Amino acid sequence: MHIKKIGILTSGGDAPGMNAAIRAIVRTSFYYNITPYGISNGYRGLLNNEFIKLQRSSVSNILSKGGTILGSARLEEFKQEETRIKAKEILLKNKIDALITIGGDGTLQGAKLLSDLGVKVIFIPATIDNDVSNTDYTIGFSTALNTVVDAIDKLRDTAESHQRCSIIETMGRDKADLALYAGICGGAEFVITKDTGLNKKEIFESLREKRLQGREHAIIVISEKITNVYDLAKEIEKETLFETRATVLGYVQRGGSPSPEDRILASRMGTFSIELLQKNIYNCIVSIKNNNILNIGFNEETDKIILNKFYELIEKIR
Ligand code: F6P
Repeated sequence: MHIKKIGILTSGGDAPGMNAAIRAIVRTSFYYNITPYGISNGYRGLLNNEFIKLQRSSVSNILSKGGTILGSARLEEFKQEETRIKAKEILLKNKIDALITIGGDGTLQGAKLLSDLGVKVIFIPATIDNDVSNTDYTIGFSTALNTVVDAIDKLRDTAESHQRCSIIETMGRDKADLALYAGICGGAEFVITKDTGLNKKEIFESLREKRLQGREHAIIVISEKITNVYDLAKEIEKETLFETRATVLGYVQRGGSPSPEDRILASRMGTFSIELLQKNIYNCIVSIKNNNILNIGFNEETDKIILNKFYELIEKIR
């Protein structure tokens, strides 16, 4: 069946580069005579019938903009089948032949469940967390990483001037990638994630030793939801006599103009999603592996690489 009309939505936490993906989808749709509709505010907007016909001009000048022009939301009710049946009916009523969803793991789960109801869906991974299985990178990760590294560089300047230890908390939900990559780029002494666990005794001993060796400042990068970093700072001061400050980077990591890497990834993935539909391929993730853009079926095994080697590296070069 020839795809004539598609819906596009962005859902979950926004990520820099979502707009670049929307632009690529819209422009490639026009190239193939497909009519694109934007759906506002993720699955919630879908249920509220918030469809907007997109023109070429709707996506002018958005390539460099962070956030998402379509708006985003999280919708717990989408886990319920009756909600998804309603979503399917709305798509049918609007004569949408296929839906492209852009987001993180929660958005992917929603996409898979919709496809189980017979909706043709393509999922494009976009989240700063880089936590989607079956793709090396997600759109937004590169930009967020740049933001975190920039913050660490700045925090190192002040930590050095005041001979302090600086704790920096990154986002990433349950995944370590943002902390781990940024820790390497920022020359952190410690990167603490769900994988490493928080071994306070080891950190205190190592910081005391470093102090004795004449080290005057230290950087600790820690993933969110592990501990209260302000309390940890007080404990470090007490146990090591290292004056310590904590910084929670928070939502600043989600914003900003997408990096060139994210713009390229989003443009490649967006265009590819329409090419897949042209070939009648759907119910899949658009993925990047070894710099190749490819499609992986929703029901294929997942294989996110665990970055053990990164932890070893940090230990050797801190
Ligand atoms: O998924 C992206 C992310 O920023 C996570 O890193 C973080 O845990 C979460 O979203 C925060 O979600 P919310 O915007 O709902 O507070």
